[in-house]
Amino acid sequence: MGSYYDGFDFEGIHKKSRELLLRPKTLSEEARKRYREHFETRCAGSRASVEAAREHIPGGIQHNLANNYPFGLNCVKAEGAYLYDVDGNRYIDFLQAGGPTILGNAYKPVKDAVINTLNTTGNLTGLFGDFEVDLAKKVKQHYPSVELFRMLASGTEAAMIAIRLARAFTGKSKILKINGCYHGWGDQLLYDMRSVNTKNMFATGVPDECLAQMCSVYPNDLEELEQRFAENEKEGGIAAFLMEPIGQDSGALPVKQEFHRRARELCDQYGALLIYDEVVTAFRLGMGGAQEHYGIRPDLTMFGKNITGGYPGAGALGGRREIMELLSAGIATAGGRVMVGGTLTANPISCVAGYTAICELERTGAHARLEAAADGFTRQLAALADDYEIPAAIFNQHSILHIDLCGVQHLTSHLDDDELMGNLFELLPEAGRNMEELAMALAAEGLIVAGGNKTFINLDTIEVLDDALAVFERVFANYV
Ligand SMILES: Cc1ncc(COP(=O)(O)O)c(C=O)c1O
Repeated sequence: MGSYYDGFDFEGIHKKSRELLLRPKTLSEEARKRYREHFETRCAGSRASVEAAREHIPGGIQHNLANNYPFGLNCVKAEGAYLYDVDGNRYIDFLQAGGPTILGNAYKPVKDAVINTLNTTGNLTGLFGDFEVDLAKKVKQHYPSVELFRMLASGTEAAMIAIRLARAFTGKSKILKINGCYHGWGDQLLYDMRSVNTKNMFATGVPDECLAQMCSVYPNDLEELEQRFAENEKEGGIAAFLMEPIGQDSGALPVKQEFHRRARELCDQYGALLIYDEVVTAFRLGMGGAQEHYGIRPDLTMFGKNITGGYPGAGALGGRREIMELLSAGIATAGGRVMVGGTLTANPISCVAGYTAICELERTGAHARLEAAADGFTRQLAALADDYEIPAAIFNQHSILHIDLCGVQHLTSHLDDDELMGNLFELLPEAGRNMEELAMALAAEGLIVAGGNKTFINLDTIEVLDDALAVFERVFANYV
């Protein structure tokens, strides 16, 4: 079996992960040493800046996805398809801050609109502005499930308010999620994060009682999904099923159409809300996001990074009018209203940047170009892995690419596999290290990927995909 997979072939990808975990290819010892030396000599300025930053910032690095192995890079310029570090190294940007810069770095029409806004409305007034309605209308045009739309400041805030709203609307308290999905860093949503069945493991600092109303289901397991709804009904019922619609870590464990269809039916049957976390997928999988792709209408949709085209203040919630109307402006929460706030919420910069970015995605026909380029690149990359006889699962959902050489995200779900479970504590760090070393080698060769095994292409990087392929080839040549 080759390395290329259809982006929604959950079974195939999952099966392949066994081979990646048990028989991975890794960087040769010589290459590992050479790449580390590269960082020591060619990235010495970055090392010094990050070490100095530790004096002021915990760990020296703040962005979750910052390339930080063997140490973080100090980025001083972003232009077109490239990022530049303080030592003068240039990198193809496959990181894209985790996805929002779909049009490219500091894309001019959006930048101009923001500067114009700063020169007129200013950065923040606290009063209402038409720019809020312009963005809301634009979002509604592409998301028919969104009857009312409310800006927030981050995807994490969108998750917090989505589940509060679901509980207030349904009068139920349990929240069901998919094992391992990430919905930001609100207390309750740290439940069963990162990998399957981690339960409270990543919720340091969160009391167990706070997580007691959370439960989770294995992706694509229809039987377990039905069971979760039925068993929770006896304990007061599920308020919402919240999902990353394409699956954990932006589709690393892709969710299939049938699971969505059944989820919608079960939510209707049991009076629960279906919430799609489209923080990554909205305006990335196409204008209409995952809900357009699957043809399903969620009750609530979370937006995040893409809703402002990558400018600050990036979060929002949209959905059915009768539910959304429970959100009141200001701090008054009388009449069963649900508290929501935020000093920088719906500020002119985020709304204008978001509105302009969406208009530009429409005008440029970005998605068709991105999808064609990503499909072609993924196939070429998989063929390259095959040529170098590197076991891999390489697939894409639109312009989100997954390049999995280690299988780490699947490990804890191979529960019935004695060989994997028996060696869990050796395999887990080894697979994690393999993932980090791939990112290190790619950076040393001139390309930065996003965290995990996923990465992104945008309108700028389309132009340099041949160069990107050459970077991967130079790295793959060092695998043994
Ligand atoms: C699917 C998903 N949901 C929620 C979030 C949290 O968004 P934010 O970082 O804006 O709080 C993220 C962040 O990457 C995400 O990928």
